[in-house]
Amino acid sequence: MSTKNFDVIVIGGGPGGYIAAIRAAQLGFNVACIDEWKNDKGGPAPGGTCTNVGCIPSKALLQSSEHYEHAGKHFAAHGIGLSNLSIDVTKMLGRKNTVIKQNNEGILYLLKKNDVAFFHGRGAFVKAVGEGGQGGYEVQVSGSSEALLTGKNVIVATGSNARTLAGAPFDEGNILSNDGALRLPAVPKTLGLIGSGVIGLEMGSVWRRLGAQVTVLEALPTFLGAVDEQIAKEAHKAFTRQGLKIELGVKVGDITNGADGVSVAYTTAKGEAKTLAVEKLIVSIGRVPNTTGLNAEAVGLALDERGAIVVDDECRSNLPGIWAVGDVVRGPMLAHKAEEEGVAVAERIAGQHGHVNFNTIPWVIYTSPEIAWVGQTEQQLKAAGREYKAGSFPFLANGRARALGDTTGMVKMLADAKTDEILGVHIVGPMASELIAEAVVAMEFKASSEDLARICHAHPSLSEATKEAALAVDKRTLNF
Ligand code: FAD
Ligand code: NAI
Repeated sequence: MSTKNFDVIVIGGGPGGYIAAIRAAQLGFNVACIDEWKNDKGGPAPGGTCTNVGCIPSKALLQSSEHYEHAGKHFAAHGIGLSNLSIDVTKMLGRKNTVIKQNNEGILYLLKKNDVAFFHGRGAFVKAVGEGGQGGYEVQVSGSSEALLTGKNVIVATGSNARTLAGAPFDEGNILSNDGALRLPAVPKTLGLIGSGVIGLEMGSVWRRLGAQVTVLEALPTFLGAVDEQIAKEAHKAFTRQGLKIELGVKVGDITNGADGVSVAYTTAKGEAKTLAVEKLIVSIGRVPNTTGLNAEAVGLALDERGAIVVDDECRSNLPGIWAVGDVVRGPMLAHKAEEEGVAVAERIAGQHGHVNFNTIPWVIYTSPEIAWVGQTEQQLKAAGREYKAGSFPFLANGRARALGDTTGMVKMLADAKTDEILGVHIVGPMASELIAEAVVAMEFKASSEDLARICHAHPSLSEATKEAALAVDKRTLNF
């Protein structure tokens, strides 16, 4: 087998990998991207977890289920009458699969457009070429494509897998990871979730809206511990009102997977022994970095105790010319974080100053209400002893929110007590996922709350709530 030589080999075609490959190609490098994900026909399906079993399919189902909930519960207030409302789960899943396929095809097109050589298969390190990898690295591709590649630089972007709960292996029939949770063939009457993190809340919302009775068991005593407390409280109230049953501070015990469903023994925060019997159980207790089959040991690539590739702040591994980005390294497991790291690494390989600002990475939970934030929470500022001012504005007082019929929640802004620099923005409410972008831009430009308060915002728009929250920092809201 002849060896193909590249300037940059990217292993993994998720948001970290395929974006790194495109950016490297834009910078003039000869680039290969290897990805092993298969579609249902065995063909290539680049885009990784995000496209195939993560961001994209979950948002497709959140959209479908939200339409269903609106039709059943909220259309009447608009004078729209409906009878015989029903949900065709097969069709809904079919639509989701089409959305996934469009994204897979879009990524293949983009790779081609940018002259990235795509290899469908698993990439594994073979050996370093020359003393200390000075001549690059050999990578074997096995699968639909079989090839031996050599790259001066290798970017590893192999992503993550769902964490398994001891004693409850995923069978994707009754005990589901994010994968099975996104393709349940029918709405279960009862659904249990272990972990009230991001997946728990998003997937719990999908199936609750479609009629499942959903119970979430969470080990921690606080709800959404990483979220600003005031925002988390507001969200908890809204989810509970919607019928999501969330039990905090539980200790999950034995889990039995039988013909009738799954039974979960657990101890409540008060020490009571209970059992939750459900048709289906989603286990969403976090994700673990994936280096399966990478043969990292062949070149001496260092992993930490969680299995993540050890990298410095700039995504350099312990080996010259080997970089790693996205879920397989430290930091938040988010698609946009993976993409930013991918771009920055490609630019660093080109001798440029690629940079990722970890302080302004936004988080979004796509529930209804949506939750979005950037920067520091009030509890973090208190713990750091930083003096700050806080201002918030409820959507209840926002004209556009009233017109939409969705007035849950608020925008909250935190700014430095002396300099007025914005330190954090926290939103729970309609379209928080879109509203947070303004706050990210403001924080990137080191804006003060006064800067935002003085900027003209379109009326009527939800973004006026952000302006009003900025005014609230100076205790001078106009509409509340
Ligand atoms: P991945 O997307 O996991 O891609 C890694 C790719 O590498 C995969 O295609 C894999 O098959 C391939 N691969 C692995 N090993 C090899 C190998 N040896 N050879 C060849 N190929 C290999 N994040 C958000 O920002 N917003 C969201 O709304 C969001 N929603 C999510 C919903 C769910 C249900 C889940 C599970 C995750 C969600 N995430 C979301 C997280 C997001 O999916 C990840 O952070 C993101 O996909 C990480 O990108 P990555 O490129 O590092 O890895
Ligand atoms: P998560 O880390 O968000 O939440 C896991 C939850 O499970 C935590 O609250 C944790 O305390 C709890 N937990 C852990 N062990 C437990 C146990 N034994 N019993 C009960 N509870 C337990 O992880 P999740 O939801 O699996 O999602 C993984 C990652 O995927 C997220 O952290 C995020 O990075 C990414 N993601 C992002 C989304 C977005 O950006 N909208 C959507 C979905 C996932």
